[in-house]
Amino acid sequence: MKPIQVGLLGAGVVGSGTFTVLKRNQEEIRRRAGREIRISHVADLDTARARALVGDAAEVVADARAVIARPEIDVIVELIGGTGIAKTLVLEAIEAGKHVVTANKALLAVHGTEIFAAARDKGVVVAFEAAVAGGIPIIKALREGLTANRIEWIAGIINGTTNFILSEMRAKGIDFATALAEAQRLGYAEADPSFDINGTDAAHKATIVSAIAFGVPVQFAKAHVEGIAELQAADIAYAEQLGYRIKLLAITRRRDATAGAPAGIELRVHPTLVPTERLIANVEGAMNAVLVQGDAVGTTLYYGKGAGAEPTASAVIADLVDLARLASADPDHRVPHLAFQPAAMQDLAVLSIDEVVTSFYLRLQVADVAGVLARVTGILAEHDISIDALLQRPAAIGGHEGAARTDVIILTHDTVEGRMTKAIAAMQALPTVLAKIVRIRKEDLG
Ligand code: HSE
Repeated sequence: MKPIQVGLLGAGVVGSGTFTVLKRNQEEIRRRAGREIRISHVADLDTARARALVGDAAEVVADARAVIARPEIDVIVELIGGTGIAKTLVLEAIEAGKHVVTANKALLAVHGTEIFAAARDKGVVVAFEAAVAGGIPIIKALREGLTANRIEWIAGIINGTTNFILSEMRAKGIDFATALAEAQRLGYAEADPSFDINGTDAAHKATIVSAIAFGVPVQFAKAHVEGIAELQAADIAYAEQLGYRIKLLAITRRRDATAGAPAGIELRVHPTLVPTERLIANVEGAMNAVLVQGDAVGTTLYYGKGAGAEPTASAVIADLVDLARLASADPDHRVPHLAFQPAAMQDLAVLSIDEVVTSFYLRLQVADVAGVLARVTGILAEHDISIDALLQRPAAIGGHEGAARTDVIILTHDTVEGRMTKAIAAMQALPTVLAKIVRIRKEDLG
């Protein structure tokens, strides 16, 4: 069979990993794919860098459109990133009848509906295993391996930079800024790590897995997103004392109507307390992990490297091998882009954060005087919020020897978030509450 010809757009870290792994494992991959996968054209503005990578093995140009225009190219691999020129080029590649493989989570989370519709119209595939959790084959697992299941929820550590920072903060007792500097020194965080730190990167990925899990359109704009920049070392230490670790979790859950909250889908990224005994609480450093709860299979856990040249190349090449096998298949018999047949997609509402049901960790810095605790617990009771555990400690921040202030840490049972927001406002208004109340959501993931 003739080789499948690939045009690579972007010869950066992942592009170079893809070229290297394809070359190194050429024979093994050919035995699996049934034909050679050949990167014949590469486009990169830095043509010298691209030439240094591919030598004589491929034609190098600066203009991506020149690669898309080549009639012999079967597949375009888009590794440029972002939602600007990458979107234009992906749509042009589809229009030209090329299959597309992309690692671009932002593009699919924000513009996926338009891109998948264009691909369907043209009868081509847009494959994106590398867009979520790097080398972990979570898209394949959700779309194919777990296809018998009604997926109940997914909870993942899907941003390695923030997991590294949180691991350092806990292990060394250091603050956020110090841990971030360490992440940058080691090359985990970008010079501008804002999409990692503020939760956007994880929310892009969560949006994609949510669509595949529940058969709903990608809806990044409806995700609730919080990052880790506000997280304080004191809360990581208190959580530890209570038997929890704090992770930046991406959570998507199908929710039936409960008292005070409608049915719908939760889609959220935020720091989360997780019981220390859960495997996912022990995922440390820059590693990723994704927990999936299906009604038939129960809980499954996928763990591995979520970034880096070769782990991400592993996912890109897996998509290329699928394409090498399926390119000539009837489009109606391919695995649908978002796991469900396009006509069977549902438009379940993504719940607002006020409608989400979860338990909470609260830290209040209060004046250490008679009756304070009674007022605080009274407000929680008035809002029908049940306390699970309570801890009182000398104030970790802003306190000093002999100061009449103390930290009160409260764990609650599940409640609707809107109710908690009202209770926090009422507690915050008490003159004996001396600092902004810290609220961190908690998940048992049992
Ligand atoms: N910046 C991402 C992370 C990797 O830190 O996990 C690419 O998605």
